Amino acid sequence: MKLLTIALATIATAGSGVLGLDKQVVGEAVVADSESNSYSFATSIIVDRTGGASVCSGALISPTVVLTSAKCVADPVSNKALPASKVIVGQGKVADVLSSDSIDLTKAASAGYAFPQAITVHPGYNSIAFTDNIAVLTLSQPLANATGTNANVKLIIKPKASANTAYRGTGWGPYVSQGKTSYPEQAQETSLAVGDNSTCSDIWPPYASLTNSLCLVPTKSSSNVCDDNGLLVHAAEDKSIGLAGILNIVATEDDVPTDKCTDEGVVDFFTTFDNYIGWLTQVTPLKQKDFVSTATFSYSSAATDSDQESESDSSLASHSSDSDDESSDDVDTSTANPSFSSSSLLAAAAAVAAFSVLF
Ligand SMILES: *[C@@H]1O[C@H](CO)[C@@H](O)[C@H](O)[C@H]1NC(C)=O
Ligand SMILES: *[C@@H]1O[C@H](CO)[C@@H](O)[C@H](O)[C@H]1NC(C)=O
Repeated sequence: MKLLTIALATIATAGSGVLGLDKQVVGEAVVADSESNSYSFATSIIVDRTGGASVCSGALISPTVVLTSAKCVADPVSNKALPASKVIVGQGKVADVLSSDSIDLTKAASAGYAFPQAITVHPGYNSIAFTDNIAVLTLSQPLANATGTNANVKLIIKPKASANTAYRGTGWGPYVSQGKTSYPEQAQETSLAVGDNSTCSDIWPPYASLTNSLCLVPTKSSSNVCDDNGLLVHAAEDKSIGLAGILNIVATEDDVPTDKCTDEGVVDFFTTFDNYIGWLTQVTPLKQKDFVSTATFSYSSAATDSDQESESDSSLASHSSDSDDESSDDVDTSTANPSFSSSSLLAAAAAVAAFSVLF
């Protein structure tokens, strides 16, 4: 018998703008200048909520369509889309747009932000059950200076789910240090690796039965995707970037004491596109051919070449070594093996099904 409890904080704070929790975006790493072109599809979305603005991440999947989470742009009680007049989207610096946690529209306009023409939240979105947490913003025209956007982002239908597959989380959210909220100048990113199925299902039991979800764990103990939402990307060998998912929830087991998303045992569940292609082709100009499968996406692996060849053999690939996660802190995981010992993280809590959602 499994009992689920969801931290009430999720509901209580969802509408209150910038949250007080430690939300260090996605680690301390800034997207390197050399890489920022690869992320030219990434946008920030700033939402005017009661109590202050909140910031989340979006992806330009066509010049006029931004994909994001439903949580970013929906009313937390009705689960319906917020009015488009409450939301701006752009690629400029978030800090340039806010004046004491409120949106300054004049500054926003000069930083290239625009109101969407329409916001479409998936009809199945439920902020308590964490279902269908996906939404699109439609723009009336391409963002200022966003030419060439989306040239390289490929939407991956079924991202590779075998252990050791390296991903990156990227996002724009605020971080709180000593009670002070600040915003990154640039998108932030961190390295993640596919989490062990049983550990992930223990933390969030629905995971076991979902086909549209991917569980990722941080490869560095001090970083994670702590944004309200974030994008899951994979860099291919040919330098193209695959968009694999949108953050759904960040969760941990109930009895693992944590108040930070960077604490041990905190796991990210991303919504993948598997079940949403039909919906996305209905509500956007995207076509089926705009999505690529794992088979046609040229995966580069953070692990060894032989790991890549065992793509279809999850039983082999899922044996991560029992190395100490802490020791790989300063290793660049774009080339290193991000082997992740989930057993060292959640061993004590494996039998407990209740989980907490951090924000
Ligand atoms: C667009 O780019 C031009 C040239 O770099 C710059 O002068 C202008 O401020 C930019 N506009 C916006 C809205 O960012
Ligand atoms: C989790 O299970 C799915 C479905 O059985 C499988 O495709 C995937 O490779 C597994 N992932 C891991 C990390 O074991």
